Amino acid sequence: MIKIQIPATSANLGAGFDALGLALSYYNYVEIEEADGIYIESLDGTPVPTDSSNLVYDTAHILYDICGKKLDGLRIRQINNIPMARGLGSSSACIIAGLVGANQLLGEPMSLDELVNLSAQIEGHPDNTAPALLGGIVTAVFDGKCVHWVKQEVYTTLKFVVVVPDFELKTEKARACLPKEISHKDAVYNLSRAALFSASLLTGKYENLRTAVHDRLHQPYRMELIPHGRDVFDTAYSLGAYAAYLSGAGPSLMAIVDADNEYFCGKMRFALDKMGLSAWEVHELHIDNIGTRIIN
Ligand code: HSE
Repeated sequence: MIKIQIPATSANLGAGFDALGLALSYYNYVEIEEADGIYIESLDGTPVPTDSSNLVYDTAHILYDICGKKLDGLRIRQINNIPMARGLGSSSACIIAGLVGANQLLGEPMSLDELVNLSAQIEGHPDNTAPALLGGIVTAVFDGKCVHWVKQEVYTTLKFVVVVPDFELKTEKARACLPKEISHKDAVYNLSRAALFSASLLTGKYENLRTAVHDRLHQPYRMELIPHGRDVFDTAYSLGAYAAYLSGAGPSLMAIVDADNEYFCGKMRFALDKMGLSAWEVHELHIDNIGTRIIN
């Protein structure tokens, strides 16, 4: 039985739409082994498909097919801590689990680069799949076939405090509300900020992050789909966050907070309760520099 730990991810990081993402200390776990049929269990009670439509199974099957190996079935046990359809890379975690699990079962026929490419081909964008596999902050360009990527480890005590709404927002819906075209001026607005984000995070110039997370490609449109989203951003800034942005396609909202800002989470919890948002969750996370790992 192979046991895999896969981190949550936060994609886009404000202006880096479809290009930037980082891995976070919040994990799904998957156990996988070959079997004579499909046996899928959710150990934490999260409802998951238990037939061949299960994303971990389906993805593992793809890798077997590509390698020309027959798959009779798999036994899969999942612990899904990463909430689904919340902008924290839950689908990518399943895809990576299926690929890494199948690759291990077959004796690692696929290289790391091939896994990065294949996961992006399956998911459609690399900014969740690549950091889920690689860890750290990943800059990625997907040309439709290959991902051209750089992973950088981030040594920081910054907290990534995520506010998770009590409703789902499917990526398809969150992409459907985006404009088909943008102006040259807005393109410059975004690309300059995306570049500023990575450089500032990696060099510790955290005072730049507030400017760096602004964008004109997706957040202004998607925030319309998230009632109270702007109030959460305002609260995060009033509590001293360096920056607040929409995680991935949303609806989760991320605040980047100094380690010395000791009571940020408690204060955010209190503010959410006052807003009538007691069902929204708050989690304090950190950057995971390792990515997906096989555990004992
Ligand atoms: N970059 C993607 C988006 C992330 O924002 O739609 C979700 O896959």
